[in-house]
Amino acid sequence: MTQHNSPGASAQNFTPADFRRVLGQYPTGVVVVSATQPDGPPIAMTIGSFTSVSLDPPLVAFYPDKTSTSWPRIEQRGAFCVSVLGADQESLCRNFAMKSDDKFRHVSWRLSGTGSPIINGAVAWIDCRIESVQEAGDHYLVLARVEDLAIDSGSLPLLFFRGGYGRFTPLSLATGDLTMMSHLRGIDQIRDEMTSLAEKLRVEVLAGARIADEFVLLAGAAPERAGAELSRVGRRMPFVAPLGAPIAAWTPDLQESGWFGGSAPHDSIVAEEWLETLDHIRTEGYFVGFGDSAYAGVEQSLQRVDGTMLPPDAELHDAVAHLRQSAWAPSDVDATAEYEVRSMSAPVFTRDGTVLQFSLYGFPATITGAVLRRTGAELVEAASRATARLGGRMPSTAGPAAEAR
Ligand SMILES: Cc1cc2nc3c(=O)[nH]c(=O)nc-3n(C[C@H](O)[C@H](O)[C@H](O)COP(=O)(O)O)c2cc1C
Repeated sequence: MTQHNSPGASAQNFTPADFRRVLGQYPTGVVVVSATQPDGPPIAMTIGSFTSVSLDPPLVAFYPDKTSTSWPRIEQRGAFCVSVLGADQESLCRNFAMKSDDKFRHVSWRLSGTGSPIINGAVAWIDCRIESVQEAGDHYLVLARVEDLAIDSGSLPLLFFRGGYGRFTPLSLATGDLTMMSHLRGIDQIRDEMTSLAEKLRVEVLAGARIADEFVLLAGAAPERAGAELSRVGRRMPFVAPLGAPIAAWTPDLQESGWFGGSAPHDSIVAEEWLETLDHIRTEGYFVGFGDSAYAGVEQSLQRVDGTMLPPDAELHDAVAHLRQSAWAPSDVDATAEYEVRSMSAPVFTRDGTVLQFSLYGFPATITGAVLRRTGAELVEAASRATARLGGRMPSTAGPAAEAR
């Protein structure tokens, strides 16, 4: 199956060390290429040179070293499975890079359609049949046809760069690192306000901030009770209405920020309603997110990425675009009526003029208008104590977003 190429002589102005160093500037993902043997444990090797080649027909490739003892045995089987390793699978990466007679001794796996091992817990797997093997210097170029494939854990992949391992950090978050650090320092000073508010109101209190075009929940406090879990901390959502409304109310470049969204029909009417609601937030000091069946879609999208710190994906953007927040006018609230409240939020102003947000989550199925008002008042008081603690000041009520009219 192997084709041989004659080596070409060419001038070379670098050493092998230069070659390694320069090409080490290019990061790769890490996969395990594996096959079974009729008489013995499965075989596998860690591969960084895996790449997709063609969609039609579906082809992938990788480059095994000619010194590899695993590759000739995989080639003999004619098929293999590629398991994409996750950022938490560095030990598997090392395990399959070692020379050993039984690399699968402590590894959990199952069989693919071609009869090759799929590593359990991998990010994704690609089941392949070998098309051709070509000599490529001190390596072989293996071209294979994809027979089946699937995303498995879907978690962040393991990356290999300059001889070390790491994980992907989206640029939007990396550039926001400094902003985030300064927000976190601020939040640290107002954490006890959050804790006592959570205890007093028996709800979850989250501190959020706008970082670039995202609304990020950076810290949280929950009332002490068995099983209480701050699952929302770390969530990254698009900074689009109705998310981050108290921050939006004090954002000078709100029109340009894209907060009003773009996909809703009759945009101008929606934006007009929002400007009114933002006025109410500036005068009343808080915002109420009412129950909304579309919000279940947002929660579902968020739960899928919880803990990964992944940026908002297309599905989440779409779910947020479907949220229809009815305008929030505190004067409409009837003290005896029951309300489905999803969240309540209020701005906290920092010394440098940036705006954080306290958000309350975890309300009972319904609360009365009277409770809603009382909760709003408690929230606003806690937020203004936090503002004072940070040396900030609430700007005059003729807020910046009002100028957008
Ligand atoms: C991150 C990483 C990437 C690797 N990429 C390749 C590769 O693309 N090709 C290759 O032949 N070996 C690669 N290796 C080395 C092989 O995994 C290793 O040499 C092989 O498993 C040795 O065992 P064997 O004799 O059983 O093949 C890589 C190792 C690591 C740690």
